[in-house]
Amino acid sequence: MIWYPYAQMKTMTPPLKVNGADGVYLHTDGGKLIDSVSSWWSVIHGYNHPVLNAAIEEQLHKFAHVMLGGLTHEPAERLSEKLASWLPKDLDYCFFSDSGSVAVEVALKMALQFNVNRGTDRSKILALKNAHHGGMSNAIEDSALHLNANCANGRNKILALKNAYHGDTFKTMEAGDDSDYHFAFPQKNGVIHIPTQTDALEKVFREHGEEFYCMLVEPLLQGAGGMKMYGVEFLKRARELCDEYDVLLIFDEVATGFGRTGNRFVADLVCPDILVLGKALTGGYIGHAVTVANRKVFNGFYGDDERLALMHGPTFMGNALACSVALASIELFESGNYIEKIKRIENVCKKELADLKDPRIREVRVLGGCACIEVYEPETLCGFKEFAARRGVFSRPFGTCMYAMVPYIITEEQLQTVLGVMKQWFFRK
Ligand SMILES: Cc1ncc(COP(=O)(O)O)c(C=O)c1O
Repeated sequence: MIWYPYAQMKTMTPPLKVNGADGVYLHTDGGKLIDSVSSWWSVIHGYNHPVLNAAIEEQLHKFAHVMLGGLTHEPAERLSEKLASWLPKDLDYCFFSDSGSVAVEVALKMALQFNVNRGTDRSKILALKNAHHGGMSNAIEDSALHLNANCANGRNKILALKNAYHGDTFKTMEAGDDSDYHFAFPQKNGVIHIPTQTDALEKVFREHGEEFYCMLVEPLLQGAGGMKMYGVEFLKRARELCDEYDVLLIFDEVATGFGRTGNRFVADLVCPDILVLGKALTGGYIGHAVTVANRKVFNGFYGDDERLALMHGPTFMGNALACSVALASIELFESGNYIEKIKRIENVCKKELADLKDPRIREVRVLGGCACIEVYEPETLCGFKEFAARRGVFSRPFGTCMYAMVPYIITEEQLQTVLGVMKQWFFRK
């Protein structure tokens, strides 16, 4: 049997069965529903898109997958070149993986090893070698490196945000701050969480700046941690402080990338050292993700010494079908005026939700292609999913958040339906 995600298998309501999907619609055994959450925020062009289908079919006739260890192929080469030219500044070095969580793990591992590598004091090892008349044993050299690996240049902490969510693997759970998802795994070794306030940011850097090997954030919009939105000023100050204290800045844009905040990437506004993309990378077609490093990070691994290399390699990294569909998805994004489409979605959401007031509602927030109605009590949203489904909308509220993150190809009428259902929930008798 299927073990479903985030669900108590004994008490969960049976999931709707999908028999087909096209555009914004899911054809389920409970009827035709607009998917207001874009299959966990990934299906930006809608389902069954002819261009994306064709990209996969074309590649399928050549081959579906080969590993990237010792082999390479055109779709992965073209996608990495496209990303290098499309992403800001020198975010040019693409490490592929199969999911957002793994890609964040890779980013953290990169940041930690970047510091290990540069903490590896080559001149000291050389001096030692010479003292041993050029014959320093590998064992001594290894233990010198091992020492460094343990201290990562004296830096052993991650700076992260309160309400952060970065995935469900162990290190991403530690960097996250969301007990709804990870309450059974409370350990937070070497992670400091701060609110998205500049004074807290400045204070933590004053007190711990030299201890961080990276700062990891979901920029502008924190998704699974409660659809929290914050301003770009915080990120600009974070960039300055990371530069001042020599800390790598990582943007987890697994959810925010490809337009969700109204920007192509938040990295266009403030450039991180490492950028993580997933979800919409493939238009939501195939699980794939990428960790993109800038030149400084890449150079920290580059050299004659094998031990400076990044020892990571997911079996399905650079999957040829995923890379092909990602290229087609980016072309659609570029040629289809998506930023304008998202602006339209944002304007409609703001207009429709502007006057929504109810004593159960804490706040209404809209940013780009994300609209959230946060209530005080999770019980307020009990039954909303079924209510929405009866009115033609698939929704999946969580905690105190009722939200819409629609496919960008949604028509205004379809969007009105989604927002109308969200509002009706509060007006119903
Ligand atoms: C910001 C962020 N990072 C990482 C992830 C994990 O991605 P995946 O589910 O592909 O592992 C998610 C998933 O929702 C996310 O929202």
